[in-house]
Amino acid sequence: MLSLALVGIGWHSWLFREEMRALLGDVNTLHHRIVTCDTGDEDISRLSKSALLDEVLLLGGHSRFPDSLEFQDLLCQEIGDWGIQNIGEGDFAVRTRKIGELPNSISSRRFEEAVGRVVSSSGREVNLETPSNEITIIIAGSNEGDSHPEPFVFRDIMVVWGLSIRDWSKEDFSGRSPTERPYFKPVSLEPRQARLLISLSNIQGREIGTVVDPFCGTGGIAIEAALQDIEVLASDLDSRMVKGTRENLRWLEKDGIVKKWDASELSKLWGKRQDCSFVFDPPYGRSSWKSDDSLEIFLSVLREAKKIDGRGVVSTMLPSGPDSLTLENADDSIVMGRKWSDLLGKIEDAGWNVHLFCPVRVHKSLVRVIVVCHPAD
Ligand SMILES: C[S@@+](CC[C@H](N)C(=O)[O-])C[C@H]1O[C@@H](n2cnc3c(N)ncnc32)[C@H](O)[C@@H]1O
Repeated sequence: MLSLALVGIGWHSWLFREEMRALLGDVNTLHHRIVTCDTGDEDISRLSKSALLDEVLLLGGHSRFPDSLEFQDLLCQEIGDWGIQNIGEGDFAVRTRKIGELPNSISSRRFEEAVGRVVSSSGREVNLETPSNEITIIIAGSNEGDSHPEPFVFRDIMVVWGLSIRDWSKEDFSGRSPTERPYFKPVSLEPRQARLLISLSNIQGREIGTVVDPFCGTGGIAIEAALQDIEVLASDLDSRMVKGTRENLRWLEKDGIVKKWDASELSKLWGKRQDCSFVFDPPYGRSSWKSDDSLEIFLSVLREAKKIDGRGVVSTMLPSGPDSLTLENADDSIVMGRKWSDLLGKIEDAGWNVHLFCPVRVHKSLVRVIVVCHPAD
């Protein structure tokens, strides 16, 4: 078993933690952007599927940031001693990273130098360019300045240290943004968000066998699934989108079945399947979060998904209003033009339990909520 500390990118710390939970099961929240977990070697490769993971450490320890310089020196001694005991063969470097809101007075250089001195006093060589071992110290501050809602309030300063782990690969989304693909429309989902929706549809004890996207548009979700070698069943009512998704998949030399089909009859297209994740962003116009039509299509897809795979998972992004950003009154917020508490009842009637409801701020007046549904029984 390895004890890991996982550090999220700064974009949406709540969703980062949810993604880690979906990929790994039980995780422990240390800080809004840092979770810890005990996992086997085999789980490390799963981390490469992540959309929001930034860094992985073999956890050394953590502590409240010491107030006085004297206690900071003692902490550096402790981290250095830990380093001497735990680094592998060869040279080393110490790297400090600051995340969250921190006072300018905190000097990361001071930590690097003090820990470096302790470790090199044991005879280890320093190599700042290509070290065999990298001791990483994260100084993590508050989430006061976050623009997305966050149920985990952190107002302290914490120090977390460990050894950088390199046998996972951070996904590089460059080169495939919607406008770089051969077929582009303004509805296209960003690759990181598409990847996130797929990750969030993981449940413990089940590998995603198939990603079904009944509103594939330009193929944002299909692409991210295909790049992970997950079977893709994509469809759209608009034949230009169907052609476009095929073109985008071909461009990446990836496969997927893409059909022109009305989503409200989805089960007639795909029949019964297993291990499906239904991942999609349903149609909506400029202000169509007020449109009843979109709501009906969405609910019919939920019922159809149930027929295709009653044990599947739904992961979707729904248009909402700014009210959903206030965590206290999620029930009253407007999602797909309805009060969330009403929509929730309809989702449950379709046979699904809402596992996650998490708002994402898109711009001043547009919010989208990520909704993940598990089977209701
Ligand atoms: C928000 S877009 C999806 C964008 C897509 N995720 C992407 O990355 O490009 C919604 C899509 O739903 C399609 N659509 C609308 N009504 C539909 C229906 N009844 N059945 C299937 N597709 C439909 C539209 O043609 C549009 O491409």
